[in-house]
Amino acid sequence: MKKIVILSGAGISAESGISTFRDSDGLWENYKVEEVASIEGWYKDKGKVLQFYNLRRKDIESKNPNKAHLIVAQLQEKYNVTVVTQNIDNLHERAGSKKVIHLHGEITKGRGEGENYYDAIDIGYTDIQLGDKAKDGSQLRPHIVWFGEAVPELEKGIKAVSEADILIVVGTSLVVYPAAGLINYTKNNCRIFLIDPNDVSTNVPHTHIKEKASVGMEKLLNIIDKL
Ligand code: APR
Repeated sequence: MKKIVILSGAGISAESGISTFRDSDGLWENYKVEEVASIEGWYKDKGKVLQFYNLRRKDIESKNPNKAHLIVAQLQEKYNVTVVTQNIDNLHERAGSKKVIHLHGEITKGRGEGENYYDAIDIGYTDIQLGDKAKDGSQLRPHIVWFGEAVPELEKGIKAVSEADILIVVGTSLVVYPAAGLINYTKNNCRIFLIDPNDVSTNVPHTHIKEKASVGMEKLLNIIDKL
């Protein structure tokens, strides 16, 4: 069975109504990334960071998977599919994808400041407030990989990409490393497709399907079956 890896970014959730980061009016136009998505920002103002993720968690609760998430999930009926996502939303899972690696964490989980990354617990869509404690007595924090922190799931992502027969990169500007570097781990005969309505700079040869995610995934469905 062919192995397919989907490397997804914020653009796959755009049609669900979730803001991307670097498009016009994206999240980073309205917030300073170093204040709300970095470990330094956390220790400077935990309340501001908690509020930022409380707002995003509530927003994601109100959104639904779109056709692109559903097509990704549908692929697993015929192929061995692993989703490696930079997204912290749970839309891939809610669309039915079973194997999802979250490189940058998950908004519906929390963990103690002093706890191991893998001790994170499900918190659903509930807010985290200052003073909310984890089991170890430390302040509960969003289970997000902030700028300045390690990416514990990276090795799993590299392994999946290195074994892929087909890599589908969808909805990512490929500007944030180490996630963006995954595209360099493909084996020589791996077919690489990139779905994005805009140009994305990468020096890795690929087929660019210049469409939004739902249209691009639909088109790719027909191509993949003939590979
Ligand atoms: N369909 C497909 N792609 C889209 C769509 C759409 N409807 N709308 C926008 N895009 C594309 C944009 O052209 C862009 O290339 O999605 C990409 C979004 O890029 P970013 O906003 O940079 O998001 P992403 O690549 O996921 O960011 C990576 O940066 O801030 C960190 O941790 C954060 O995981 C995030 C990481």
